[in-house]
Amino acid sequence: MTKKCMAAALMLLAGLTGAQAQDFPTKGGTVIVPFAAGGPADITGRIVADILSRHLGQSFVVENVVGAGGTVGATRAARANPDGYTLISGHMGTHAAAHLFYPNLGYDPEKDFAPVGLIAEQPELLAVRKEIPANNLKEFVAWAKANESKVNMGHAGVGSVSYIGCLLLNNAIGIKPTLVPFTGTAPVMNAILAGTVDYDCDPILGPLPHVRAGTVKALAIASKKRSPLLPDVPTSYEQGLPEFDCAPFYALFAPKGTPQAVVDKLAAALAKGLDEPAVQKRLADLGAEIAEPARRGPKALGELQRKEIARLTALLKPAGK
Ligand code: MLT
Repeated sequence: MTKKCMAAALMLLAGLTGAQAQDFPTKGGTVIVPFAAGGPADITGRIVADILSRHLGQSFVVENVVGAGGTVGATRAARANPDGYTLISGHMGTHAAAHLFYPNLGYDPEKDFAPVGLIAEQPELLAVRKEIPANNLKEFVAWAKANESKVNMGHAGVGSVSYIGCLLLNNAIGIKPTLVPFTGTAPVMNAILAGTVDYDCDPILGPLPHVRAGTVKALAIASKKRSPLLPDVPTSYEQGLPEFDCAPFYALFAPKGTPQAVVDKLAAALAKGLDEPAVQKRLADLGAEIAEPARRGPKALGELQRKEIARLTALLKPAGK
Protein backbone atom coordinates (compact mmCIF):
# COMPACT_ATOMS: atom_id res chain seq x y z
CA MET A 1 0.00 0.00 0.00
CA THR A 2 1.34 3.45 -0.89
CA LYS A 3 1.77 6.08 1.83
CA LYS A 4 -1.18 8.01 0.36
CA CYS A 5 -3.44 4.97 0.43
CA MET A 6 -2.35 4.15 3.97
CA ALA A 7 -3.16 7.69 5.14
CA ALA A 8 -6.57 7.53 3.45
CA ALA A 9 -7.27 4.15 5.09
CA LEU A 10 -6.28 5.48 8.50
CA MET A 11 -8.48 8.54 8.06
CA LEU A 12 -11.40 6.33 7.06
CA LEU A 13 -10.79 4.14 10.10
CA ALA A 14 -10.58 7.16 12.38
CA GLY A 15 -13.79 8.54 10.87
CA LEU A 16 -15.55 5.23 11.33
CA THR A 17 -14.36 4.99 14.92
CA GLY A 18 -15.67 8.48 15.60
CA ALA A 19 -19.02 7.70 14.01
CA GLN A 20 -19.21 4.38 15.86
CA ALA A 21 -18.51 6.14 19.13
CA GLN A 22 -21.29 8.63 18.42
CA ASP A 23 -23.81 5.88 17.69
CA PHE A 24 -22.69 3.74 20.61
CA PRO A 25 -24.27 1.41 21.56
CA THR A 26 -25.82 -0.16 18.49
CA LYS A 27 -26.03 -3.63 20.07
CA GLY A 28 -26.01 -5.29 23.49
CA GLY A 29 -22.90 -5.64 25.64
CA THR A 30 -21.40 -7.73 28.42
CA VAL A 31 -20.38 -6.79 31.93
CA ILE A 32 -17.85 -9.35 33.15
CA VAL A 33 -18.19 -10.17 36.84
CA PRO A 34 -15.01 -11.99 37.89
CA PHE A 35 -16.60 -13.85 40.85
CA ALA A 36 -19.39 -16.34 41.50
CA ALA A 37 -23.07 -15.48 41.14
CA GLY A 38 -24.88 -14.27 44.24
CA GLY A 39 -21.95 -12.52 45.98
CA PRO A 40 -21.14 -8.82 46.43
CA ALA A 41 -19.36 -8.45 43.07
CA ASP A 42 -22.19 -10.18 41.24
CA ILE A 43 -24.95 -8.20 42.95
CA THR A 44 -23.09 -4.96 42.19
CA GLY A 45 -22.36 -5.98 38.59
CA ARG A 46 -26.03 -6.80 37.98
CA ILE A 47 -27.14 -3.42 39.29
CA VAL A 48 -24.66 -1.79 36.90
CA ALA A 49 -25.73 -3.93 33.91
CA ASP A 50 -29.32 -2.90 34.60
CA ILE A 51 -28.34 0.79 34.79
CA LEU A 52 -26.44 0.61 31.48
CA SER A 53 -29.29 -1.25 29.77
CA ARG A 54 -31.87 1.30 30.87
CA HIS A 55 -29.81 4.41 30.18
CA LEU A 56 -28.16 3.30 26.93
CA GLY A 57 -31.17 1.55 25.38
CA GLN A 58 -29.37 -1.74 24.66
CA SER A 59 -29.21 -4.83 26.81
CA PHE A 60 -26.03 -5.29 28.89
CA VAL A 61 -25.79 -8.74 30.44
CA VAL A 62 -23.58 -10.11 33.21
CA GLU A 63 -21.14 -12.90 32.46
CA ASN A 64 -19.49 -14.52 35.51
CA VAL A 65 -15.92 -15.36 34.50
CA VAL A 66 -14.45 -16.77 37.69
CA GLY A 67 -11.10 -18.02 38.97
CA ALA A 68 -7.75 -17.01 40.48
CA GLY A 69 -9.11 -14.27 42.73
CA GLY A 70 -10.92 -12.53 39.88
CA THR A 71 -7.88 -12.36 37.63
CA VAL A 72 -9.27 -14.81 35.04
CA GLY A 73 -12.20 -12.47 34.35
CA ALA A 74 -10.04 -9.36 34.51
CA THR A 75 -7.56 -10.85 32.02
CA ARG A 76 -10.44 -11.64 29.66
CA ALA A 77 -11.70 -8.05 29.98
CA ALA A 78 -8.23 -6.54 29.45
CA ARG A 79 -7.87 -8.49 26.18
CA ALA A 80 -11.39 -7.80 24.89
CA ASN A 81 -12.06 -5.64 21.87
CA PRO A 82 -11.86 -2.04 23.18
CA ASP A 83 -15.21 -1.02 21.70
CA GLY A 84 -17.27 -0.53 24.85
CA TYR A 85 -19.25 -3.75 24.42
CA THR A 86 -17.16 -5.73 26.92
CA LEU A 87 -16.71 -4.17 30.35
CA ILE A 88 -15.74 -5.40 33.78
CA SER A 89 -17.25 -4.72 37.15
CA GLY A 90 -13.99 -4.99 39.07
CA HIS A 91 -12.84 -4.00 42.52
CA MET A 92 -9.94 -3.18 44.79
CA GLY A 93 -8.57 -6.72 44.42
CA THR A 94 -8.67 -7.13 40.63
CA HIS A 95 -7.77 -3.50 39.88
CA ALA A 96 -5.41 -2.37 42.64
CA ALA A 97 -3.86 -5.41 44.31
CA ALA A 98 -3.80 -8.46 42.00
CA HIS A 99 -0.35 -7.59 40.61
CA LEU A 100 1.05 -7.83 44.17
CA PHE A 101 -0.04 -11.46 44.42
CA TYR A 102 0.51 -12.70 40.85
CA PRO A 103 3.98 -11.89 39.48
CA ASN A 104 2.94 -13.18 36.04
CA LEU A 105 -0.42 -11.48 35.94
CA GLY A 106 -1.76 -11.32 32.38
CA TYR A 107 -2.70 -7.63 32.67
CA ASP A 108 -1.59 -4.39 34.25
CA PRO A 109 -4.47 -3.15 36.44
CA GLU A 110 -3.74 0.47 35.57
CA LYS A 111 -2.27 0.43 32.05
CA ASP A 112 -4.64 -2.11 30.49
CA PHE A 113 -7.93 -0.49 31.54
CA ALA A 114 -9.82 2.74 31.03
CA PRO A 115 -11.63 3.69 34.26
CA VAL A 116 -15.34 4.33 33.69
CA GLY A 117 -16.73 4.99 37.14
CA LEU A 118 -16.77 4.18 40.82
CA ILE A 119 -19.91 2.29 41.83
CA ALA A 120 -19.69 1.94 45.62
CA GLU A 121 -17.53 1.01 48.57
CA GLN A 122 -18.47 -1.95 50.73
CA PRO A 123 -17.06 -2.35 54.25
CA GLU A 124 -16.20 -5.91 55.20
CA LEU A 125 -17.58 -7.94 58.06
CA LEU A 126 -15.83 -10.66 60.00
CA ALA A 127 -18.52 -13.32 59.47
CA VAL A 128 -18.28 -16.52 61.49
CA ARG A 129 -20.13 -19.81 61.67
CA LYS A 130 -22.81 -19.41 64.32
CA GLU A 131 -21.61 -22.34 66.45
CA ILE A 132 -18.26 -20.62 67.13
CA PRO A 133 -18.25 -19.65 70.82
CA ALA A 134 -17.25 -16.03 70.26
CA ASN A 135 -19.36 -12.89 70.21
CA ASN A 136 -16.70 -10.24 69.70
CA LEU A 137 -13.18 -9.88 68.33
CA LYS A 138 -11.49 -10.58 71.67
CA GLU A 139 -13.35 -13.86 72.08
CA PHE A 140 -12.71 -14.74 68.45
CA VAL A 141 -8.96 -14.24 68.91
CA ALA A 142 -8.99 -16.44 72.02
CA TRP A 143 -10.99 -19.16 70.24
CA ALA A 144 -8.85 -19.00 67.07
CA LYS A 145 -5.61 -19.26 69.05
CA ALA A 146 -6.89 -22.12 71.15
CA ASN A 147 -7.99 -24.03 68.05
CA GLU A 148 -5.36 -22.85 65.59
CA SER A 149 -4.58 -26.24 64.04
CA LYS A 150 -8.28 -26.78 63.17
CA VAL A 151 -9.43 -23.30 62.20
CA ASN A 152 -10.18 -22.66 58.53
CA MET A 153 -10.99 -19.50 56.64
CA GLY A 154 -12.81 -19.21 53.30
CA HIS A 155 -11.93 -16.67 50.63
CA ALA A 156 -12.67 -15.86 47.00
CA GLY A 157 -9.17 -16.61 45.72
CA VAL A 158 -5.72 -15.18 46.40
CA GLY A 159 -5.84 -11.41 45.89
CA SER A 160 -9.62 -11.15 46.21
CA VAL A 161 -10.92 -8.60 48.68
CA SER A 162 -12.11 -11.30 51.08
CA TYR A 163 -8.57 -12.71 50.99
CA ILE A 164 -7.01 -9.28 51.59
CA GLY A 165 -9.39 -8.36 54.43
CA CYS A 166 -8.69 -11.57 56.33
CA LEU A 167 -4.97 -11.27 55.59
CA LEU A 168 -5.00 -7.98 57.50
CA LEU A 169 -7.02 -9.55 60.31
CA ASN A 170 -4.95 -12.74 60.58
CA ASN A 171 -1.65 -10.84 60.53
CA ALA A 172 -2.87 -8.42 63.20
CA ILE A 173 -4.00 -11.15 65.58
CA GLY A 174 -1.20 -13.56 64.70
CA ILE A 175 -3.04 -16.64 63.44
CA LYS A 176 -2.41 -18.84 60.41
CA PRO A 177 -5.64 -20.71 59.64
CA THR A 178 -6.05 -23.20 56.80
CA LEU A 179 -7.09 -21.14 53.77
CA VAL A 180 -9.91 -22.56 51.66
CA PRO A 181 -10.31 -20.95 48.21
CA PHE A 182 -13.67 -20.58 46.43
CA THR A 183 -14.75 -18.78 43.25
CA GLY A 184 -16.52 -16.07 45.22
CA THR A 185 -17.82 -15.34 48.69
CA ALA A 186 -21.35 -16.56 47.89
CA PRO A 187 -20.06 -20.17 47.94
CA VAL A 188 -17.94 -19.31 51.02
CA MET A 189 -21.11 -18.16 52.78
CA ASN A 190 -22.83 -21.46 51.84
CA ALA A 191 -19.90 -23.35 53.38
CA ILE A 192 -20.12 -21.23 56.55
CA LEU A 193 -23.86 -21.98 56.74
CA ALA A 194 -23.11 -25.69 56.22
CA GLY A 195 -20.51 -25.53 59.00
CA THR A 196 -17.55 -26.61 56.85
CA VAL A 197 -15.82 -23.19 56.91
CA ASP A 198 -15.31 -21.23 60.13
CA TYR A 199 -15.12 -17.63 58.95
CA ASP A 200 -14.51 -15.14 56.19
CA CYS A 201 -14.05 -11.40 55.69
CA ASP A 202 -16.81 -10.49 53.33
CA PRO A 203 -18.08 -7.19 51.93
CA ILE A 204 -21.30 -6.52 53.84
CA LEU A 205 -23.59 -7.29 50.87
CA GLY A 206 -22.78 -10.99 51.18
CA PRO A 207 -23.31 -11.83 54.86
CA LEU A 208 -25.98 -9.19 55.66
CA PRO A 209 -29.09 -11.35 55.04
CA HIS A 210 -27.56 -14.27 56.96
CA VAL A 211 -26.53 -12.09 59.88
CA ARG A 212 -30.04 -10.66 60.00
CA ALA A 213 -31.51 -14.17 59.89
CA GLY A 214 -29.25 -15.19 62.77
CA THR A 215 -27.63 -18.00 60.77
CA VAL A 216 -24.17 -16.34 60.67
CA LYS A 217 -22.55 -14.11 63.31
CA ALA A 218 -20.86 -10.78 62.44
CA LEU A 219 -18.21 -10.01 65.05
CA ALA A 220 -16.80 -6.79 63.62
CA ILE A 221 -17.12 -4.35 60.76
CA ALA A 222 -13.72 -3.47 59.27
CA SER A 223 -14.34 0.25 59.28
CA LYS A 224 -14.13 3.36 61.44
CA LYS A 225 -17.91 3.59 61.59
CA ARG A 226 -20.71 1.15 62.27
CA SER A 227 -23.20 0.30 59.52
CA PRO A 228 -26.71 1.68 60.05
CA LEU A 229 -27.93 -1.71 58.83
CA LEU A 230 -26.15 -3.58 61.63
CA PRO A 231 -25.92 -0.99 64.41
CA ASP A 232 -25.10 -3.63 67.02
CA VAL A 233 -21.97 -4.84 65.23
CA PRO A 234 -19.01 -2.91 66.65
CA THR A 235 -16.18 -1.65 64.47
CA SER A 236 -12.69 -3.13 64.47
CA TYR A 237 -11.46 0.23 65.77
CA GLU A 238 -13.80 0.13 68.77
CA GLN A 239 -12.49 -3.36 69.51
CA GLY A 240 -8.85 -2.28 69.44
CA LEU A 241 -7.95 -3.75 66.04
CA PRO A 242 -7.60 -0.81 63.61
CA GLU A 243 -5.42 -2.95 61.31
CA PHE A 244 -8.61 -4.74 60.25
CA ASP A 245 -9.80 -1.90 58.03
CA CYS A 246 -11.12 -2.95 54.63
CA ALA A 247 -13.86 -1.27 52.60
CA PRO A 248 -13.02 -2.17 49.00
CA PHE A 249 -14.14 -0.07 46.06
CA TYR A 250 -16.25 -1.68 43.33
CA ALA A 251 -15.95 0.04 39.94
CA LEU A 252 -16.60 -0.24 36.22
CA PHE A 253 -13.68 -0.45 33.79
CA ALA A 254 -13.37 -0.79 29.99
CA PRO A 255 -10.37 -2.21 28.13
CA LYS A 256 -7.65 0.36 27.43
CA GLY A 257 -8.09 1.86 23.95
CA THR A 258 -11.87 2.19 24.22
CA PRO A 259 -12.70 5.48 22.43
CA GLN A 260 -13.04 8.34 24.90
CA ALA A 261 -16.49 9.23 23.56
CA VAL A 262 -17.65 5.69 24.39
CA VAL A 263 -16.10 5.80 27.87
CA ASP A 264 -17.85 9.15 28.43
CA LYS A 265 -21.21 7.71 27.36
CA LEU A 266 -20.79 4.74 29.68
CA ALA A 267 -19.73 7.01 32.54
CA ALA A 268 -22.69 9.35 31.99
CA ALA A 269 -25.11 6.40 31.97
CA LEU A 270 -23.59 5.00 35.16
CA ALA A 271 -23.72 8.40 36.87
CA LYS A 272 -27.39 8.86 35.90
CA GLY A 273 -28.23 5.45 37.31
CA LEU A 274 -26.37 6.05 40.56
CA ASP A 275 -28.31 9.29 41.00
CA GLU A 276 -31.67 7.50 40.80
CA PRO A 277 -33.35 7.34 44.21
CA ALA A 278 -34.40 3.71 43.62
CA VAL A 279 -30.79 2.66 42.87
CA GLN A 280 -29.48 4.65 45.83
CA LYS A 281 -32.00 2.98 48.11
CA ARG A 282 -31.23 -0.49 46.75
CA LEU A 283 -27.47 -0.07 47.27
CA ALA A 284 -27.96 1.50 50.71
CA ASP A 285 -30.32 -1.33 51.74
CA LEU A 286 -27.58 -3.78 50.75
CA GLY A 287 -24.98 -1.94 52.86
CA ALA A 288 -23.01 -0.44 49.96
CA GLU A 289 -21.84 3.17 50.20
CA ILE A 290 -22.29 5.16 46.98
CA ALA A 291 -19.57 7.76 46.55
CA GLU A 292 -20.55 11.38 46.12
CA PRO A 293 -20.68 12.49 42.43
CA ALA A 294 -17.28 14.23 42.47
CA ARG A 295 -15.56 10.92 43.29
CA ARG A 296 -17.33 8.84 40.65
CA GLY A 297 -16.23 9.67 37.08
CA PRO A 298 -13.37 8.22 34.97
CA LYS A 299 -10.79 10.77 36.16
CA ALA A 300 -11.66 10.41 39.84
CA LEU A 301 -11.67 6.62 39.54
CA GLY A 302 -8.24 6.71 37.87
CA GLU A 303 -6.93 8.77 40.78
CA LEU A 304 -8.53 6.46 43.34
CA GLN A 305 -7.00 3.45 41.57
CA ARG A 306 -3.51 5.00 41.62
CA LYS A 307 -3.84 5.89 45.31
CA GLU A 308 -5.12 2.43 46.18
CA ILE A 309 -2.26 0.74 44.31
CA ALA A 310 0.25 2.84 46.29
CA ARG A 311 -1.56 2.25 49.61
CA LEU A 312 -1.92 -1.50 49.09
CA THR A 313 1.66 -1.91 47.90
CA ALA A 314 2.89 -0.32 51.14
CA LEU A 315 0.35 -2.19 53.26
CA LEU A 316 0.59 -5.68 51.82
CA LYS A 317 4.28 -6.01 51.05
CA PRO A 318 5.37 -5.82 54.70
CA ALA A 319 2.40 -7.99 55.69
CA GLY A 320 4.04 -10.80 53.73
CA LYS A 321 1.04 -11.05 51.37
C1 MLT B 1 -17.49 -11.80 45.73
O1 MLT B 1 -18.38 -11.17 45.18
O2 MLT B 1 -17.43 -13.03 45.69
C2 MLT B 1 -16.43 -11.03 46.48
O3 MLT B 1 -16.67 -9.65 46.40
C3 MLT B 1 -15.13 -11.39 45.87
C4 MLT B 1 -13.95 -11.02 46.72
O4 MLT B 1 -13.84 -11.45 47.84
O5 MLT B 1 -13.08 -10.32 46.19
